[in-house]
Amino acid sequence: MTSVRKPLLGGNWKMHKVRAEAEEFCKALAAGISSAGGADVDVVLFPSSPLLHGVARSLEETAVEVGGQDVHPAAQGAHTGDTSVAQLVDAGCTWTLCGHSERRADHGETDEQVGAKAKAAVEGGLVPLICIGESQEERESGRTFEVLERQLNAALAPRPERFALAYEPVWAIGTGLTATPEMAQEAHAFLRELLADLLGPEVAAVKRILYGGSAKPENVGALSAQPDIDGFLVGGASLDPEKFLAMIEGCSSRA
Ligand code: 13P
Repeated sequence: MTSVRKPLLGGNWKMHKVRAEAEEFCKALAAGISSAGGADVDVVLFPSSPLLHGVARSLEETAVEVGGQDVHPAAQGAHTGDTSVAQLVDAGCTWTLCGHSERRADHGETDEQVGAKAKAAVEGGLVPLICIGESQEERESGRTFEVLERQLNAALAPRPERFALAYEPVWAIGTGLTATPEMAQEAHAFLRELLADLLGPEVAAVKRILYGGSAKPENVGALSAQPDIDGFLVGGASLDPEKFLAMIEGCSSRA
């Protein structure tokens, strides 16, 4: 199916790979991306901070972009262990994740902090990929939409000019459990309606909403066929270049 929204595929490497492994991955990706239909898909890798500069260098001859996994809202200062927008830009990044559920769980990130990060990212020249999603307990107690609405409202409260969204149900991340295409579509359609209410229908129509949570080559076809699923944020399957290339191919057929 054709869409006004170009598919976007993000590879979130989380805390995996050292430099030699990253280099090997980038070579395989650069070699295979054209024949996988990469021209029809926007591709972004999100490696850990120490790998960012090397990955950006390795991929500079390609259209693949690079992003941080997190960013601090302050321009600089005494924030041990954190990374600023300017440092990400300097390392060759054009994107950053904001509000990944692992940051929210491991580091207690609040909805408001996610909004502040997204705002700082845009002001410094990065595109934030804002991650939201309900936990298993929230879904089972019928609060999915309420949680998504709260997370989205807070993340967009500072009105970042540019952004993409990733709907990542926490119960599907790294578990092998995937939302069915119908479940994912229902959440994506709900998010697009919220975007229309907040920012107007023209903006909502062009914003990309990615699905994340055990996405893999075997399920991208059925998920991509849904009208409001505009790509994927991939964890485990993004570590293997062959699988990641197969997912680029799966997304390119939607373009
Ligand atoms: P998995 O694809 O490993 O489930 O991880 C999803 C994710 O958290 C991407 O940000």
